[in-house]
Amino acid sequence: MNMILLGPPGAGKGTQAFFLVESYAIPQISTGDMLRAAVQAASPMGVKAKACMDAGELVSDDVVIGIVRERLQQADCDNGFILDGFPRTLPQADALQDVLKDLGKELEAVVSLRVDTDALVERLAGRRSCPQCGKGFHLKFDPPREDGTCSACGGELVQRDDDKEETIRKRMEVYHRQTAPLEDYYSQRGVLIAVDGMAEIQAVRAEIKAALQAG
Ligand code: AP5
Ligand code: MG
Ligand code: ZN
Repeated sequence: MNMILLGPPGAGKGTQAFFLVESYAIPQISTGDMLRAAVQAASPMGVKAKACMDAGELVSDDVVIGIVRERLQQADCDNGFILDGFPRTLPQADALQDVLKDLGKELEAVVSLRVDTDALVERLAGRRSCPQCGKGFHLKFDPPREDGTCSACGGELVQRDDDKEETIRKRMEVYHRQTAPLEDYYSQRGVLIAVDGMAEIQAVRAEIKAALQAG
């Protein structure tokens, strides 16, 4: 399964990617997680990306396209991949088409998670993330078994730097301006699957599973 998870900040891309990785045994490719790893490692790319991420703005197309091009060539993508948070602009979407063509792969599904803005803000404000394995939790909607500890790997949960109210608002604005047009882009190519992301986590999971099986 070669697929994209599309949706605004807090829509549940990472949450649902976690389940899809299990079901299909294919990797999650989260440009956000990869950029945060670069920030953590203080690589030159990470240092540059941090300023954009903290401001809620997008990192340059060239940088993320380069990361994804390299990642998709790795052997674990042979049976499929789940792109999470990429593409986010029309130039990124066009570049992805080129990369996939070069690699002889085809995009099969773009699952678009639809969630109201108020719900997104509540989700991001209550999110706690594991910097070790990338898994996300929510204080109210998806609490970890033990307070402050990742139930998957035992890592210490933190609040993401960009989950502050002001930055959240900026990220929403950037999404509507730069990323939302991708819905039409993929709809025109016949691969868009719209999913009601307002439902509970397990209900969204079931809807995605059914939609992918039907397609
Ligand atoms: P990125 O890390 O991709 O962040 P994002 O797109 O803003 O999305 P999030 O990770 O915040 O949300 P999510 O949809 O994964 O939601 P989650 O499952 O965690 O990008 C961060 C930054 O990196 C960008 O701002 C940009 O600067 C840069 N960047 C990344 N990719 C880039 C690109 N391609 N180009 C340029 N720059 C790029 O869920 C959120 C919370 O809600 C969790 O607490 C979860 O438990 C809870 N939750 C999930 N589903 C439900 C549900 N159904 N009901 C109730 N709660 C739920
Ligand atoms: Mg995410
Ligand atoms: Zn973890």
